Amino acid sequence: MKRTLLTTIAFILCVSTLRADEGMWIPALLQRNEAEMQAMGMKITADDIYSINHSSMKDAVVLFGGGCTGEIVSDQGLLLTNHHCGFDWIQKHSTIEHDYLTEGFWAMTMEEELPCPGLTAKMLRNMEDVTDKVLAGITDQTTDDERAQIIAENIKNIKESAQKDSQYKVTVESFYIGNQYFLMYNEIFDDVRMVGAPPSNIGKFGGDTDNWVWPRHTGDFSIFRIYKDGKPYKPDYHFTISLKGVEEGDFTFVFGYPARTNEYLPAVAVNQEANVIYPVVVDLRTQILNIYNKYQEKDPVVRLQYASKHAGLGNGWKKWMGVIEGIRNFKGIEKKQAFEEAYINWCQETRARMKYMHALRDLAPVYEEYEKYRMATTYLTEAGLSIELLEYAANFAKLAEVTKDTPQEEIDELIGELKEATTVFFKDYYQPIDEEVAITMLTAYSAAQPEDFRPEILNEIDRKFKGDVESYVDYLFGKTVLTSEEKVMAMLDNFKPSKAKKLAKDPAVVAVNSMMDFYVENVLAKSRECNEKINNLRRVYMEGQMKMIPEVYPEKRLYPDANFTLRVTYGKVGGFKPKDAVTYGYFTTLDGIMQKENPDIYDYVVTERLHELYDAKDYGRYADKDGSMHVAFIAGNHTTGGNSGSPILNANGELLGLNFDRTWEGTMSDLIYDPSICKNISVDIRYVLFLIDKYAGCTRLIDEMTIAE
Ligand code: ARG
Ligand code: GLU
Repeated sequence: MKRTLLTTIAFILCVSTLRADEGMWIPALLQRNEAEMQAMGMKITADDIYSINHSSMKDAVVLFGGGCTGEIVSDQGLLLTNHHCGFDWIQKHSTIEHDYLTEGFWAMTMEEELPCPGLTAKMLRNMEDVTDKVLAGITDQTTDDERAQIIAENIKNIKESAQKDSQYKVTVESFYIGNQYFLMYNEIFDDVRMVGAPPSNIGKFGGDTDNWVWPRHTGDFSIFRIYKDGKPYKPDYHFTISLKGVEEGDFTFVFGYPARTNEYLPAVAVNQEANVIYPVVVDLRTQILNIYNKYQEKDPVVRLQYASKHAGLGNGWKKWMGVIEGIRNFKGIEKKQAFEEAYINWCQETRARMKYMHALRDLAPVYEEYEKYRMATTYLTEAGLSIELLEYAANFAKLAEVTKDTPQEEIDELIGELKEATTVFFKDYYQPIDEEVAITMLTAYSAAQPEDFRPEILNEIDRKFKGDVESYVDYLFGKTVLTSEEKVMAMLDNFKPSKAKKLAKDPAVVAVNSMMDFYVENVLAKSRECNEKINNLRRVYMEGQMKMIPEVYPEKRLYPDANFTLRVTYGKVGGFKPKDAVTYGYFTTLDGIMQKENPDIYDYVVTERLHELYDAKDYGRYADKDGSMHVAFIAGNHTTGGNSGSPILNANGELLGLNFDRTWEGTMSDLIYDPSICKNISVDIRYVLFLIDKYAGCTRLIDEMTIAE
């Protein structure tokens, strides 16, 4: 009796004080979280979410393409994901006559659904802990090199024997930095077709300006369908859609494919990341984006040409600024240091724990050594290869090495690839931007890299051009053939091995070769070496943390970093206080879209159709009970890149919306999580359905969904 009472009290204490929103949990082990999830309001079981014995929600969640999540919402394989996840496909299917990015796309019949060759959906069918098998044969005496070999051999055997008996694709994935391994069985679908997408001024409303920011009004969804054997796929499970919406404090969970987090880094590494590397990247990208902006504002054609490049650079740029600021405000480094002090104390309690202490201590000098190689890599990719001409010229390195002994088929194949790359490159190339980027980036590159980290080309600028980057850039762009599509195509059409030498002397090829050669000879191997050392030490440090945390910080959440495998995360709906005197509500509405409207700014254009529906308040059953059209909401789910498109579900496991972003103030959650400011942003499913139904009139899609009113 006494014991039960105590356990009950412990349980209640535990549940009520837990920072219950941190963590990305392995679905096969979700039983461990079930009690907590139910105490927070969940009405279903862990078994409803993940089961290998009967159909469960996991049979309706897929990795969409290479980096997003999607969910199945009908018994005919209808799939929802974000607009920014479907973006490339919407763009690929667009032509001058049918610009689906601008106009939107709605397949009014199944026949109109557009095949997307190359697009896949991956579904987890089963996962199994194989840690013992992977680590079989490893003892305390095994060296790191031997260990790597044994593990590679064991994994190969495990995969081979599993693959023999399975129709699914098997992989072995490492969790907790090599402390746990799972064998995964995935079904891969390779016929995924495009079904619908709103126009960009809905699907990307607010564009890069609002990106990462709350309050948000983006209708970030697109629709696809999985086909199997040429027919719509009949899934084992599909999500029921809830029209009930959310209220402050409601339990939610997100089921998807988070890509990478680093929650267990030592303080030195967080410091390197947030205070050394990110500031450099942010600074370089700020300079580039300023140049883009200047030209994009002047010319609508250039605005379009550089829209996607701008979005790509801008996404990381903005996020990392958030990380830098978050780590500072949240005292991330100091918190890590305090944790490490407690960790060292714990290690010193017994001899057996000494190796855990050494692992942490040994990491510091390796990170210090690693820094210069990381910096060299950062300048190569962020400064050198940001010059589009040089990135493009890198494609020609192989052709420049062709000799008369090179087989003709090989040359023909190369030329074919280069012609394709050339068409793609010139479609969106604006030389005045690139020249200015080149001047700025080479200046920064040269100023930052110490003597032993300078590719020859930087020294040449100093020697032959007396350090005058502008006159070097004049020479580079004046002399290269690679700035003229016509000349490049002619050169490729008339290419003979005897002309390779001349190509090798093209100043753009010379410049990029110099950077790449330097990197391969002086950076790559050292970088890998550091990385290997770091990984080995981090594995042991992780093992130490896995033992220490439950003992010393039983309230602290322990979960494996994201590794692009399926995870469940849960938290409650609610606003937050990003800074002094500022409070954010938890949802946005169509009213906010009308407030942001600006016909002169591309990102804030509102279509006439949306105005009509808004003026008539024609929201049908998709209106909230307050009468308005809810657009997006935030909740305390621990998500990261890759979670885009993930289903956000209510206490009954019904679909509430699609995750698509995080709040800027909380982007440091990839390194350190703070429940008070780390929130995920989702588009409300009622807005999605309103757009499909009322805006686009694509009611056949609504009809195949299962909707709970
Ligand atoms: N920040 C979101 C993510 O990391 C959305 C990015 C796409 N949207 C944009 N405006 N660039 O992927
Ligand atoms: N937009 C991100 C994605 O594409 C999700 C935002 C985040 O990093 O949490 O996955």
